[in-house]
Amino acid sequence: MSRLDSFIRRLEAQRRCLEFAAGLVEGLEGPVFELGLGNGRTFDHLREICPEREIFVFERRVQANPDCIPEPDYLFEGPIAETLPLAIERFARAVPLIHADLGSGRPEIDRATSALLAGLLPDLMRPGGIVLSDQDLPWPAAAGVELPADVAPGRYFMLRAP
Ligand SMILES: C[S@@+](CC[C@H](N)C(=O)[O-])C[C@H]1O[C@@H](n2cnc3c(N)ncnc32)[C@H](O)[C@@H]1O
Repeated sequence: MSRLDSFIRRLEAQRRCLEFAAGLVEGLEGPVFELGLGNGRTFDHLREICPEREIFVFERRVQANPDCIPEPDYLFEGPIAETLPLAIERFARAVPLIHADLGSGRPEIDRATSALLAGLLPDLMRPGGIVLSDQDLPWPAAAGVELPADVAPGRYFMLRAP
């Protein structure tokens, strides 16, 4: 498979999983958290598929497309180690959907980020809520959710909060 094909498949899987996860939490109240704004592609898509929800974005340093930068009240800028604990004070056990796209391509950094995030999720997630992540998350109490059939295993990881 060419690198172009692989890139296209990755983005198709991302869109498919976002739409699937948004559907799974339709009956659960609360905001969406987008972890990792990047250039804003997935944030923009979440805005489109969850128009009725508030979407809070967490990003170390915003460098997104200007059309895809959230309003200041919806942006937590800084490392998630600092910003997520602040968000927990406001949204404890109230978040039905988190999309985490924090991968750096450096396994040791990504493992540490995943461990940090997994430790905070129990205090953030609404019971029954969905975490969709580009990295595997060590949260044994959560149930694995099967990915849509057309998404290759390992491209994304989906968990349901206990
Ligand atoms: C792969 S990009 C996100 C791409 C984005 N979802 C999109 O569709 O454009 C990863 C982003 O996560 C951010 N990030 C990684 N680790 C972070 C951390 N510990 N705290 C805050 N942001 C982080 C990076 O700065 C980067 O912008």
